Amino acid sequence: MEKIVIYGKEKLEGSIKVSGMKNSALPIIFACLLIPEDCIIDNVPRVSDVSNALKILNSMGAKAEFCGQHSVIINTKNAKESIKETSLICQMRASSYLMGAMLSRFGSVEIPMPGGCNFGVRPLDLHLKGFSGLGAICEENDEKIKIFSNKKLKCNKIILDKISVGATINIVLASVFIDGVTVISNCAMEPHVEDLISFLNKCGACINRYGNVIICKGVKRLYGTKYKIFPDMIEALTYITYVGICKGSIDISGVNTQHLSNEIKLFRGMGFKIFEGQSRLRVVAEVINGADVVTSPYPCFPTDLHPQFAALLCYANGGGSIKELVFPTRFAYVKELEKMGACIKRHGNTVYIRDADLKGAMLDATDLRAGAALVAAALGAEGKSEINNVNYIVRGYENIVEKIANIGGKIKLIKGD
Ligand code: UD1
Repeated sequence: MEKIVIYGKEKLEGSIKVSGMKNSALPIIFACLLIPEDCIIDNVPRVSDVSNALKILNSMGAKAEFCGQHSVIINTKNAKESIKETSLICQMRASSYLMGAMLSRFGSVEIPMPGGCNFGVRPLDLHLKGFSGLGAICEENDEKIKIFSNKKLKCNKIILDKISVGATINIVLASVFIDGVTVISNCAMEPHVEDLISFLNKCGACINRYGNVIICKGVKRLYGTKYKIFPDMIEALTYITYVGICKGSIDISGVNTQHLSNEIKLFRGMGFKIFEGQSRLRVVAEVINGADVVTSPYPCFPTDLHPQFAALLCYANGGGSIKELVFPTRFAYVKELEKMGACIKRHGNTVYIRDADLKGAMLDATDLRAGAALVAAALGAEGKSEINNVNYIVRGYENIVEKIANIGGKIKLIKGD
């Protein structure tokens, strides 16, 4: 088994280039099922979830492969409804986008239950309610989901009971070819939703978003295109937490500063000096103070930064708190940070964190962002840490070990047997 070994307390100096956003690359890759022509997608991160998404499409008879360091070419003209790589679906939450994409392309879909990072119950009821609203019949048991329609899907007004990135994306995917106008209210506004909409529109779709309402006018077909994925905002924010813990100064390039504006304000309030340039940030961390945050859908503080921010609070003067409103049980990282000496009290969906001197330890990544948080904590800790279950981390962070080593972190990836 691979593991990451870190010797902490090194100052970080240098430059990091942010990769393309995993959470938009995945829906865009599955959206290619709607387009029976060549699509070239640029700025695709080389992470294992992306390779698995490409494998799933290939196993359906499509042609989907990297054609450059960060470019993929996808042609789904010959794709069939049957998927051979079903085990990969169970490993990745984003495989749920097969539901909307296959419903649009084939009029029906049957897949095993999508898996993914386990930070509590992750139901699909909002997705299925949305499909039902469009006239589909949804059948689900513990193992699989079947969605089909005896007639053509029909446009409708769909109101999401709760804001959901996945349900928003799936309902958009299902609506692209439906005659008339489909309206989705209370939708998610994350940049990855915007990214998917921009991609589909570039292929000929007619989708507009006005605040939290998406209006999709059905089109007859879509055409191949070349498209560049947005930068990964969570990756950029993760590296800001790392420099906050280790102190020093780094340049982060390839970012969209608009996507980060609320967090930049928050970090500045904590003592970070952040200078904004054209698609880049210079981040200087000397004295960092704590803060209290509440996670909520975009544009509020992202749940995907919660664990890394918790690690930062362990080192920030005065500590702080995090209230988790999106995934109320996303606290698996707490036990791991406690092994290092972290002072964390949890009450329900809130953690209260005091600053403490953390020591290196043997750690287990429990999911993607929790893994990124352990890397953060280990970078600031005294002595050696070993992080197991690296497979979670490489699902979403491209070349994380090299990127940190390049800015002065003492970090190594030890290959397994
Ligand atoms: C996506 C991201 C994930 C991120 C999350 C929130 C991908 C692959 N994953 O996950 O990294 O943490 O957005 O920003 O892009 N919910 C329901 N019923 C549903 C769907 C969701 O109750 O049918 C609930 C969830 O349990 C959660 C909340 O809605 O409490 C938000 O979840 P959602 O936005 O759907 O997250 P994902 O799309 O799964």
